[in-house]
Amino acid sequence: MQRTPEPELMGESEQALAYANADFAEPNERFVGYFVESFPELKQGAVLDLGCGPGDIVLRLARRLPQLAVHGLDGSRAMLAFGEARLAASPQLRNRVRFIEGVLPGAPLPLPSYDAIISNSLLHHLHEPEVLWRAIRYAGRPGAAVLVMDLFRPASPAAAEAIVETYSGGEPELLKSDFYNSLCAAFEPDEVRAQLAACGLGALAVRPVSDRHLLVSGRLPG
Ligand SMILES: C[S@@+](CC[C@H](N)C(=O)[O-])C[C@H]1O[C@@H](n2cnc3c(N)ncnc32)[C@H](O)[C@@H]1O
Repeated sequence: MQRTPEPELMGESEQALAYANADFAEPNERFVGYFVESFPELKQGAVLDLGCGPGDIVLRLARRLPQLAVHGLDGSRAMLAFGEARLAASPQLRNRVRFIEGVLPGAPLPLPSYDAIISNSLLHHLHEPEVLWRAIRYAGRPGAAVLVMDLFRPASPAAAEAIVETYSGGEPELLKSDFYNSLCAAFEPDEVRAQLAACGLGALAVRPVSDRHLLVSGRLPG
């Protein structure tokens, strides 16, 4: 099936509310597990989460690794407001977690470089996917860890509908249609490999990790 892009920013408060209230505990916890497994030595330093949305992964990672600083960047104020509210409820994280409002490309960052760059479910939003790969190269120090997870595009609209029914059959309609649109906007693993090669990141590995997710992992050139 051909890719159908969707709007980049999730700026509508109704859409942000539906997304922030949805239960992404399983994939988000899995993402944190991939980080810990892939980079067991990375217990301190600074991590940047690009397109952090309501910040669930930022907060989970900061709780799992108590010496890590975790910054989350997103272009949607509505999304970041949920992250800020959750951070306010966890005062012990406040000196290590920071949310930054900024749109890629070109968003100013608080640190000159990061030890790890992570991103979940941003790639499929981007009209120009190289924006993510260039941001990762720009923000990561040489040899920085990279972990990106996203949906991959199913073979057909019917396959996309089946995935939506399997994983969010009981969710509100808005969330289901967002999920369907996201699947149709996502890239296939080979398309991601070609994007990485074009940005000088061909050494990063791309592999499917579920019936709907792919994972990109590895290190920036040293
Ligand atoms: C599907 S959400 C994923 C949120 C979060 N990473 C998660 O796993 O729950 C995608 C997020 O990327 C943000 N986004 C999309 N395009 C962006 C851009 N060009 N710059 C910054 N943020 C962007 C959206 O506002 C949205 O919050």
